[in-house]
Amino acid sequence: MCGIFGYIGTKDSLQVCLNGLQLLEYRGYDSTGIAGVENGQIAYCKEAGKLHVLQQKLPFQKLDVAIGHTRWATHGKVSSNNAHPHLDEKCDIALVHNGIIENYDVLRSDLQMHGVRFVSETDSEVIVQLIAHHYKGELVEAVQKVLPLLKGHFAIAVIHKDFPDRIVAAARECPLAIGYDDAGTEAVISSDPNAFLSSTPNVLFLRKDEVALIQKGKISLFNSQNLPLCKQPERLEGHHTPPSKGGFAHYMLKEIFEQSATVQKAIFGRMDEKEVLFEALPETFRNAKRVWFIGCGTSAHAGMIGSLFLEDIAQIPSHTEIASEARFRIVPEETLVIAISQSGETADTIAAVREFKSRGLKVLGICNVKNSTLTRETDGCIFLKAGPEMSVCSTKAFTSQIAVLYLLAKFFARQSAEEIKTIPAQIQEVLKLAPLIQQIAKKYSHFRNFFFMGRHYMYPTCLEAALKLKEISYVNANGYPAGELKHGPIALIDTHFPVVAFCANKQTEEKILSNLQEVKARGAPIIALAPKELSAVSAVADDVIWLPSTSDKLAPFTSTVAGQLLAYYIALSLGCDIDQPRNLAKSVTVE
Ligand code: AGP
Ligand code: GLU
Repeated sequence: MCGIFGYIGTKDSLQVCLNGLQLLEYRGYDSTGIAGVENGQIAYCKEAGKLHVLQQKLPFQKLDVAIGHTRWATHGKVSSNNAHPHLDEKCDIALVHNGIIENYDVLRSDLQMHGVRFVSETDSEVIVQLIAHHYKGELVEAVQKVLPLLKGHFAIAVIHKDFPDRIVAAARECPLAIGYDDAGTEAVISSDPNAFLSSTPNVLFLRKDEVALIQKGKISLFNSQNLPLCKQPERLEGHHTPPSKGGFAHYMLKEIFEQSATVQKAIFGRMDEKEVLFEALPETFRNAKRVWFIGCGTSAHAGMIGSLFLEDIAQIPSHTEIASEARFRIVPEETLVIAISQSGETADTIAAVREFKSRGLKVLGICNVKNSTLTRETDGCIFLKAGPEMSVCSTKAFTSQIAVLYLLAKFFARQSAEEIKTIPAQIQEVLKLAPLIQQIAKKYSHFRNFFFMGRHYMYPTCLEAALKLKEISYVNANGYPAGELKHGPIALIDTHFPVVAFCANKQTEEKILSNLQEVKARGAPIIALAPKELSAVSAVADDVIWLPSTSDKLAPFTSTVAGQLLAYYIALSLGCDIDQPRNLAKSVTVE
């Protein structure tokens, strides 16, 4: 999964491409590279590390055409040698690739038998060597010969030293968009159209094995049978404004503090005093006999809370499945599938959407990013309206997801959702606890293992909080249903294993208090997140974060914000790279 960006036009290709890569760094940031044509030769530079490392090492100042890449390694370690672009043996052709070539080892052995020498450990290099092998003076033709040989999924951009005026691009299942201006002076390619220039509002998306020959002022498209294609461009709505931390130390902290406003935006204009109203939600969706939520990571946790909402509020049987596992399951007819994704680009989620659509099921998307793949492939989409989320660790998207899911359950039940209007103010109250939470975080930051536990609504809430801690502080944090600890995991408990207890679920108060006694009896230090009225918790917990009182259904909002702050401040004490943790990417575009 990575970002591809390319530019051809009257502007400074190198600079435009570097700016584009900056906007795509969320898709992967373990290495970066750029290639272009300079004086009839391929010029390139690639480095392990983030974009600023590449920028310091660039040996050229100008390129005639430029293609760039931000990598998230799938095949081959993170090294400058494995970074993209990859070149053929003669250094005539350069290629950047997003995706995975599943049969690369067979293809590689074949080429090696023809005497081709490989210099990287990647699956991607085989594509450029194959293109060179089939090249007879026509780059488009060579690319077209290679595509049927590839198994897997990809988006590629290719340049040739003899053609400083063109980029050839192709895609199968991975997103690749081409943008161009009305006057025909420039063209851009990007994995994400939100990284386009404001001057290139016409957008073409490459579909299954389509190939594009991109020249200044001219885009020629061909289908997999090499027939010319005529496609109407889409007009891009809105453009990326440069992201800013707005005075906060990290995007994550800024995004945590935005949540009062973002939840407000998620609910604004979507209800009156009688019922919930969703724009662009087909009325027939209300006839669903059951609902399946699919998503990954944080979005899957939101789905778990959504399932509880749908059952408790609308009495609609509901289930949540991790997107990468969903395809192995039988989903009954008349099930509405709801795919949740902040980015709308998560490959596991998109693959599950395609699978369920091919089975004839209706799919609704819940997404934050306009123009993303998910929004184009579902039968309807509800937007979170949370604004760009820059931190890899998702925070505001989650609270907006559960706000939308709460409204959705009320929509199905044909009920009003007035009570959710109290949530933005309650989030503000929790944000005021940041200094106290920072103190608690410091006290516990030397521990290497934590259990997070909760019951009912607090179970998915504690899973989400544990994921936050894991991903930004590299500390082992396991989320469990509180009742389940005694069935095995409690064996791990000792004085070095703190428990973070999510207690804001009235229906299960007594039970979680007993579970706390059980871990206390075995020496665990305890941090409790509890509503103000649950005074009994102070007798058992070492530290308590007191939260505003609310209903069980709405408690995930306030408990989540407190959990996010706890994870943030632990990671801060440990000096971690909070916004871009190791081994991760904001948008996971490979399966
Ligand atoms: C969240 O903090 C994670 N970085 C990750 O689990 C994320 O939620 C997951 O990759 C799904 O992303 P999506 O919502 O963009 O589909
Ligand atoms: N599979 C390729 C690699 O490991 C591309 C990964 C990506 O999409 O960043 O280099």
